[in-house]
Amino acid sequence: MTITTLGQFIIEKQQDFPFAKGELSRLLRDIGIASKIISREVNKAGLTQILGEYGSVNVQGEDVKKLDIIGNETFIWALSKGGEVCAMASEENDDIILLDGEYSKHGKYVICIDPLDGSSNIDVNVSIGTIFSIYRRVTEPGTLATHEDVLQAGNKLVAAGYIVYGTSTMLVYSTGKGVNGFTLDPSIGEFCLSHPDIQTPKDGKVYSINEGNAAEFPTGINNYLNWVKETDKATSRPYSARYIGSMVADFHRNLLKGGVFIYPPTTKSPNGKLRLMFECIPMSFIAEQAGGISTTGTHRVLDVEPTEVHQRVPVIMGSANMVNKVLEFMK
Ligand code: AHG
Ligand code: MN
Ligand code: MN
Repeated sequence: MTITTLGQFIIEKQQDFPFAKGELSRLLRDIGIASKIISREVNKAGLTQILGEYGSVNVQGEDVKKLDIIGNETFIWALSKGGEVCAMASEENDDIILLDGEYSKHGKYVICIDPLDGSSNIDVNVSIGTIFSIYRRVTEPGTLATHEDVLQAGNKLVAAGYIVYGTSTMLVYSTGKGVNGFTLDPSIGEFCLSHPDIQTPKDGKVYSINEGNAAEFPTGINNYLNWVKETDKATSRPYSARYIGSMVADFHRNLLKGGVFIYPPTTKSPNGKLRLMFECIPMSFIAEQAGGISTTGTHRVLDVEPTEVHQRVPVIMGSANMVNKVLEFMK
């Protein structure tokens, strides 16, 4: 049996970038390490009843932290030490984090993270995830990074990916040359290449949307939702509704099996709920790299110019023919 670990794969792929000095490789490796730590913490989350509730003090006298805080601290810790990163933005932090260390100031890269996606699912033992994206800084290395380095459109991405903590832990990422998926083998503590060159199906039968908010959806979306429930053999309708409430897990299923994920504008939240920088851009990058489509309904998500770190956008993403069908109804 031959296996390719994430570490080996990253090194092999460095040759795709002739002028690469290895910084991106080290950064991806550090993301792999942070993911393994979070995976370990996620797997024992159910033990809080035994080991101590979040917010309490455990028997060792340490504060028991919420998993999203652990995830955030782990990523910041793992990525701020290597000197590759000059700034970070996290869904858990109001403002961007500027790294002013001797090495970090020279870092070429900027990282955005959603350290714990699907946090409402933690306490009920349902899949959750982590999302990351990597940009090249635009300001001069050696100086303190600025908002300009962070607020970049998705079409400037260097790499992006996610980790899904599901029946197994998987890391899926792209550096703009296709999408590859790695499954964590806990017995050797390594992510192993399990899903090389992922291509998402052009069609599917699954639609993922929080239909409970239908009264607040635009008419076009509701018309589409009526259409998916009609019976028509030729178009495999009715479709199946699947909605976990963890974007990473919903997206991952649709990526592999085909499907469309929708978080539309609502009357209460005209820009939807999901964050452009932390959720929509990185997942859109993966969707497109796998042959899918991602749009806000009016624009390609990767072309939206961010103006604020915590900006929200509506999103329709997944199998190309399915996304186009939703767009037809939205016209
Ligand atoms: P987070 O846990 O990072 O705040 O993200 C939750 C997000 C996303 O994962 C999911 O798709 C969406 O919220 C679900 O929202 P609704 O409960 O409104 O459907
Ligand atoms: Mn999230
Ligand atoms: Mn989150």
